[in-house]
Amino acid sequence: MKAIVRETYGPPDVLHVAEVPLPTLGDGDVLVRVHAASANAGDWHLLRGTPFPIRLVAGLRTPRFKIIGTDVAGRVEAVGAKVTRFRPGDEVFGELSRSGFGAYAEFAAAPEKALVLKPGNLSFEEAAALPTAGCTALQGLRKGRIERAQRVLVNGASGGVGTFAVQIAKAFGAEVTAVCSGRNADMVRSIGADHVLDYTTDDFATHGDRYDLILAANGDRSIWDYRRALTADGCYAMTGGSNRQLTEALLLGPLLSMGRQRFGNVLVKPTQADLVVLKELCETGKVRPVIDRRFPLSEVPAAVRYVEEGHARGKVIVTV
Ligand SMILES: NC(=O)c1ccc[n+]([C@@H]2O[C@H](COP(=O)([O-])OP(=O)(O)OC[C@H]3O[C@@H](n4cnc5c(N)ncnc54)[C@H](OP(=O)(O)O)[C@@H]3O)[C@@H](O)[C@H]2O)c1
Repeated sequence: MKAIVRETYGPPDVLHVAEVPLPTLGDGDVLVRVHAASANAGDWHLLRGTPFPIRLVAGLRTPRFKIIGTDVAGRVEAVGAKVTRFRPGDEVFGELSRSGFGAYAEFAAAPEKALVLKPGNLSFEEAAALPTAGCTALQGLRKGRIERAQRVLVNGASGGVGTFAVQIAKAFGAEVTAVCSGRNADMVRSIGADHVLDYTTDDFATHGDRYDLILAANGDRSIWDYRRALTADGCYAMTGGSNRQLTEALLLGPLLSMGRQRFGNVLVKPTQADLVVLKELCETGKVRPVIDRRFPLSEVPAAVRYVEEGHARGKVIVTV
């Protein structure tokens, strides 16, 4: 099969097309003929081996995972002897980070618990957009106690995670303020944002409004700014953004959470149960992935480079 492989850590240029054997299939595995994959910020971290702790899992000097790619959608080609939930021909989507990655290839193998039947109303490309970004948004909003939040602010609302966060928060019935640049204002309104703040001209921290939940999907703001914009018992959940945003959430979050407000960070753990939640949100029309660009398999380096630039509008898809 054709796959996009790398032998060393480095920039997207280390990726190249190669002919490789089909993945081996364990008894509990499913072989998926890949129709689409999606690119994530995690790709370029894995590719470059940065920040360094990632190498404790991915290999110190030489990367263990030669074929990267986390989010996959496609058709089941074959199943292992102990697989009970899927059969050849099923249309599925899923997340491969806990089974060795490998979505940037014509075929990928995954344990059946990493996969879910594709929402009937989504294309393969749309389904491939869901797993990492959708689970991050869902788990971030849960961490911020979305079930009790009336007013939600999403910083970085126009990216992969943010576009899901806006729609999922709306599905929970919240009034949503989206923070993005002006060029994305119409897009975030079109997916349900009630209010839009352009981060190049408006400042949520001094705007005077208060939010029950702030999800920092992207951006580079001090935790003190977020604190200023929270209600007295509001929650702040950080899923992404700059190193400062991450470090402050990790180090100061627990201290600031000693009062009534809560400050936490989220490292996504995609689960089959959450993939099912996302599938149902899509099937009921509450969520629809926003797709920015599509790249063919041979152009995975360009797709990863584009995501690394940090200005994608929704998700970046690789078509196979
Ligand atoms: N915690 C986890 O487990 C987890 C999982 C997935 C991703 N992440 C992290 O989450 C972050 C976002 O991921 P993503 O997939 O949504 O990334 P993304 O799609 O690349 O985000 C790009 C979007 O962010 C917006 N943006 C850039 N700078 C901004 C700023 N200063 N303020 C507000 N918005 C800004 C851009 O809008 P403009 O072009 O208008 O600037 C663009 O629409 C990344 O840091 C990623 O590493 C973490």
